[in-house]
Amino acid sequence: MQENFSFFNPVRISFGKGILKNVGKIARKYSNNALIVTGKSSMQRSGVLQKLLDILKAEGVGSTVYSGITPNPTCIEIDEAAKMAKDFKTGLIIGLGGGSPLDSAKAVAVAAKGDIPVWDYLKVKAKEALPVITIVSTSGTGSEVNRYSVMTNPATKEKPGFGYECMYPKEAIIDPEIMISMPKYVTASTGFDIFVHVLEAFTGKMKNAFSSAYCMQAFYLLKDNLINAYNEPQNLDARGNMALASALAGLAIDLSGTGIIHALEHPVSGNYPNIAHGAGLAALTVASLRYNISGCKRDFMLIAHHLGIKRAGKTDDEYAYSLIEKTQEILKAIDLNMSLKDLGVEKEALGKIAKEAFATMGFAVQNNPEEIDEKEALKLLELSY
Ligand SMILES: [Fe+2]
Repeated sequence: MQENFSFFNPVRISFGKGILKNVGKIARKYSNNALIVTGKSSMQRSGVLQKLLDILKAEGVGSTVYSGITPNPTCIEIDEAAKMAKDFKTGLIIGLGGGSPLDSAKAVAVAAKGDIPVWDYLKVKAKEALPVITIVSTSGTGSEVNRYSVMTNPATKEKPGFGYECMYPKEAIIDPEIMISMPKYVTASTGFDIFVHVLEAFTGKMKNAFSSAYCMQAFYLLKDNLINAYNEPQNLDARGNMALASALAGLAIDLSGTGIIHALEHPVSGNYPNIAHGAGLAALTVASLRYNISGCKRDFMLIAHHLGIKRAGKTDDEYAYSLIEKTQEILKAIDLNMSLKDLGVEKEALGKIAKEAFATMGFAVQNNPEEIDEKEALKLLELSY
């Protein structure tokens, strides 16, 4: 019998090739003065930022750009952007780019409404935020459709996630044409992030009928499109399907959370900011699946089915295990078959990482299908090394 749950997601999702052109009219519904929150280079290089500025201007929406968001956004960057939003009296935050600028846009929207540093919102519940529009350029985090934001404290290297109801974007613009410019490594790491979102939402303790439905469709879309989008960057259909999988996975984790793989990855890339989230996940996934398999046999079999793995005479145990083999196959195909050591993590840091997973990602640890303590988490890190 399903555990009690409630389902709420207020984000208007617009999907389609070339729909970026509509964003001026959409923005005007909320404000005629927007702050665009983006990273330092990719949206400038691809020309998408300039296109957005032109579209907003044509609709009479004034805009200011904060382009200081780094791959692992810090609370300092978010406070800087929030100060800009206050100084320029902007009534709307537009997040443009991958997961980092989108996560940051939501945190900026909160900090711009209040008068405390954004880090304090880990303890103080945020009740209001400026409206946010997300324009997503990668397929991965699902940040475009959910309330979550992840930030790093550069002083302590902690990298917690947080999300209040007021942080849901008002609108998510998903235009696969923007994703064509995504570099191969980003396609692989963000694509694998989707895979882990649906793995963890589908098997976690908070799973429910709605998140499971999103996950099953996302697995089906990931089946061919993850590797196709990696091998054929210009394939607009593969890009569009990955964008849909990302949004479905984003909705799934909004409802049902993540698990031990995310709990361990956050402190990995928190301590090593040059490691991409998806690459950190890639190093941790196989050992974590092995840890979880005994309690998740039925779920693993269902996932195997949705990934197109033939049952063909396999026992239940073998069929469940085929998910782990498939995961290794996918990692090889997208050149992410790496260990924590390959990524540059120092062996001596593993103890600190295990500790931080419990300190800052406790909700994800608790959602893991199998109980896990700090000692077992350290063992998982060692197996992933
Ligand atoms: Fe993730």
